[in-house]
Formats: sequence, structure tokens, C-alpha cells
Amino acid sequence: MRFIRSILLGLVTLTDVAVAALSSGCGSAPTITSGVKTITVGGTQRQFTIRVPQNYQNNKGYKLVYGLHWVGGRMDQVANGGDTGSKNWKYYGIQVVANETAILVAPQGLNGGWGNSGGSDLKFIDAMNNYIDAGLCVDQGQRFSIGFSYGGAMTYSIACARAKQFRAVAVIAGGVLSGCDGGNDPIAYFGIHGIKDGTLNIAGGRSLRDRFIKNNGCASMAGAKEPASGSRTHITTAATGCKAGYPVKWAAHDGGHIQAAADKPAPEENGEASWVGPEVWAFFNSAGL
Ligand SMILES: *[C@@H]1O[C@H](CO)[C@@H](O)[C@H](O)[C@H]1NC(C)=O
Repeated sequence: MRFIRSILLGLVTLTDVAVAALSSGCGSAPTITSGVKTITVGGTQRQFTIRVPQNYQNNKGYKLVYGLHWVGGRMDQVANGGDTGSKNWKYYGIQVVANETAILVAPQGLNGGWGNSGGSDLKFIDAMNNYIDAGLCVDQGQRFSIGFSYGGAMTYSIACARAKQFRAVAVIAGGVLSGCDGGNDPIAYFGIHGIKDGTLNIAGGRSLRDRFIKNNGCASMAGAKEPASGSRTHITTAATGCKAGYPVKWAAHDGGHIQAAADKPAPEENGEASWVGPEVWAFFNSAGL
């Protein structure tokens, strides 16, 4: 009896995870090209930069990854890999490791931030999802968001309020600045935080993580190892016991309020040498997600 039940549970899990939900844009010529787009959301004009993979095929359901900028930041900084145009740091390091398997989007916040007043930025996310679903071939079960600082806060807000529309998120040095509407559903979650963060401290980062430890049914990460001050390295820990398909990871690094953390001998923050993009992509791309 128990054996049969576990087979059935196994089938349910497979169905949940493995079936691609293709968007309406699949099967026809794309109506969206790479570049800056403007859409009207609740009477306000909103902009985003989108990058369509080279050799795009309209019968393949692509992953969709949002990269949300920091306070005072801009979409083009996310898309270009910062002001200096670091190749390995485009879209928070995701572009190079995704290797043309994901549609990448860098939205522009209002007044350089993600105040999400009255849920306005969540409505912007919904509107982009709909616009992109219609114009390109998206696997609707493979939407992701990553962001730093205010962009991490908005990514957390997405995890709280849009856990059914997004498959996983990565919150770099986040806090609760964009709200947490709902916040009770499981979603795969990767938290990244510096032990010396003086802007949004690591205790806050741990508490964001712990919401999804609870929602995902994982064992407590209270004892997760973090690097010693001065070690100039990072420690990534996977939570145990999480519901299938809802992992949680936590990476603590010996650095401050930075997005592209790197281990010694590289500088503390370095887009070319950062482990953040590769580790986040491995998480977004992992089996069971
Ligand atoms: C990127 O993908 C192409 C085509 O699938 C493959 O030939 C190439 O080796 C990949 N590059 C890397 C760095 O993985």
C-alpha cells in the first residue's frame, strides 16, 4: 500500500515538474525582438530591456529570467554588466552561463527603485509576463527573477506574491522594501548575503530565507555555516528536507553590500570572477526545477 502510494506521489511530482507549459507565442514567428520596449501598465508607461536568444526557435519553450536593478540603478546597467560592461556580469552573470537558452529581461523601476506602491510593480511584472508570453515561446513553468538590494527586495516580493508564476528566485543582499503580499506559498529560493553588509544586514537576509525554509518544508538553516571575517571566501549551503522541487540555498560571503561577490584572490566585488552568476544559474537549471 505504502509502495503504491509512493509510486503515485512520484508520478504527481513528475507531472508537476516535467511538463512544459508553452506560452501562446510558441509555434509562430516571434513578434518581439531584442531591445527596449515600452508598455502601459495602469496608465503608467513602463520600460524594459529584453534579450532574445540568438538562434531563437519558436517551438522551444525558453526559460525567462528577470534581472532587477538596485536603488538608483537602470535596466541598461543590468543588461550591460554594470557601467564598465563586464561580459561575465551581464544580467547578474546569467547571460554568459545561460548560453542562449533563456530570454533575459531587465525592467526599469520607477524613480530608480521598486516601491511597488499598491502592487504597481507586481502588475508591471504580470504585464511583462503576458506581453512576452504572447510574442515569444516561453516555458511558463520556467520563469525566474534575480536582483540585488532594492532589486533583491522586489525579487523577494515576487517570491511572496507570484510563487505560482515563477519557478525560482535569487535574492542578493535583499530586504523587505517592496512588500510581501501573500508570502505563504513555496518557491525555490536562493539567498545570497555578505556577512559585512552595512546597508541591509545579513540577519535580515536570513529572515527572508527562513520564510521559504518554512513554506518549502525544509529543515531549519539556523546552523548553516558562514565564512569567517577576513576569509575572503563564501560558503553555500543547501537546505535539507525541502518538498521535492522546492529547494532552498543560502550563500554567505565575507563581503559587504555588493552584487558580484568574488573569492580571494579576486577583489571582493568582481563581475568577471564572481561565483554568483554560475551558482544561481546552476540552481535555476537544476534537476527538479
Ligand atoms: C553553448 O551552446 C552551444 C550550442 O549548444 C555549444 O556548442 C557551446 O559549447 C556552448 N558553450 C558553452 C560555453 O557551454
